Amino acid sequence: MDVRSTSDAPGGTGADTIAVGLFEEEGIAHDSAGGALGALVDAGEAKAAFRKLALTHDEGKRWLVAGLGKREEFDPERARIVAGGVIARARELGARSLCWELPHHVSDAHAAAFVEGSVMGAYDFRLWKSKSDDDDDEEGDGVGELIVSAHHDVAGPVETGRIVGESVNLTRDLQNRPANDLTPTALAERAREIAANHDTLTLEVMGRVEIEAAGMGAFAGVAQGSEEEPQLITLRYDGPGATGPVLGFVGKAVTFDSGGISLKPGNKMSDMKFDMSGGAAVLGATAAIARLGLPVRLISVIGATENLPSGNSMKPGDILRARNGTTIEIINTDAEGRLVLADCLHHAVEQGAERLVDLATLTGAIVTTLGTTYAGLMGTDDEWCEEVSAAGRRAGEILWRLPLHPEYADLIKGRYGDIMNAVENRRAASVTAAEFLKRFVGDVPWAHLDIAGTAWDTNKAYAPKGGNGYGVRLLVALASPPTE
Ligand code: BES
Ligand code: MN
Ligand code: ZN
Repeated sequence: MDVRSTSDAPGGTGADTIAVGLFEEEGIAHDSAGGALGALVDAGEAKAAFRKLALTHDEGKRWLVAGLGKREEFDPERARIVAGGVIARARELGARSLCWELPHHVSDAHAAAFVEGSVMGAYDFRLWKSKSDDDDDEEGDGVGELIVSAHHDVAGPVETGRIVGESVNLTRDLQNRPANDLTPTALAERAREIAANHDTLTLEVMGRVEIEAAGMGAFAGVAQGSEEEPQLITLRYDGPGATGPVLGFVGKAVTFDSGGISLKPGNKMSDMKFDMSGGAAVLGATAAIARLGLPVRLISVIGATENLPSGNSMKPGDILRARNGTTIEIINTDAEGRLVLADCLHHAVEQGAERLVDLATLTGAIVTTLGTTYAGLMGTDDEWCEEVSAAGRRAGEILWRLPLHPEYADLIKGRYGDIMNAVENRRAASVTAAEFLKRFVGDVPWAHLDIAGTAWDTNKAYAPKGGNGYGVRLLVALASPPTE
């Protein structure tokens, strides 16, 4: 979708469809549709309640009146949701060009959010649909153009919103591609393409031989059951005029998690193609940060492998040695994400990361605990955890912190090795997983985001079923200079 801003009035932009927001207890700001919108409001058809939509026609165009709710409750996340609802309706109506009249007196963050919501809402994954078989393709190619009309110059935030939205969609493509297509090698290939587009990015990829030679026995242990080459992907970003600590983003990218020898039940196992969502978010965010040219230094580490049962697989009872020397007893081969992350987190620290965030679809228990609303946050440094949490609030990707505790650390103490990769009966599964990861971050402030509940199939106006790019917006917000 092409995106641009203009100071022309919506009616003069050539768009076939115009969206106008309506706040509660406020009227239509200036009725560009020659009174038609005011009449729609007076008739009670256009409602100001949040997410309500009404349609009318005037001067050969469609006009959508979108309820924004109460002005004081209208945060950027609400702008994303309204924009997602509007773009979906516009698409249904066969619109080709949509103009949003930006509501008066909203911030730049709102302007960016309107664009993000539109770009994300326009997303559709058709990569594996044959044209001839595409029976729900009545809406043609969808909305091809988005224009934001405002009295003042919003070119900056509109461009930011476009880049962030497109990066979310890049991540969604990676998530939605099936595991036989998006192998660890294919993911590294995508990272290579992104790195090639920016002088500020450098890429390094380690394969099986290098991972083993580096003594990354935890990562290698997961990868040994699969014929697919594992890939440890490291991207470095050196932004212009960078200040502040070196950020380290670490993502779990298990491109398919069957559970390994501790095989998962068949029900919904196909969803385990999404077990690379953390790594995909890290890659999408890194691409966005490079495109935006943000003034930070960043090390992004993505651990990509499959987790499969075979004659080569690690087995319950096996003991692995991670690169930092810690020995790990395998209790359950399905607790593989923490094994991959162990060596990736340590690698990020070795590479110079001074603040860590990892994203991982790590435990089913976090889905039980927090559902699809909050991602779980666990970490070592209160100030850093709060900073990450605040970035999540700005981005509309909210986190709920769960505790670490020496008693949880005790639960993963090993009998034959230093630690175990799982606790019997999955007791305190999310927080013991975090205690496990904590063994690999040294003294570096660290925040662990368990995104197993939030990464796909959430019900959001701007996110269709399937992968939703969760975490990209949060990571970009975290790397963005503070505003207002
Ligand atoms: N990738 C799964 C976690 C998961 C499960 C994400 C369902 C989304 C939906 C992870 O590798 C896993 O299998 N975790 C185990 C850990 C257990 C063996 C301690 C789990 O949560 O059951
Ligand atoms: Mn697993
Ligand atoms: Zn997994």
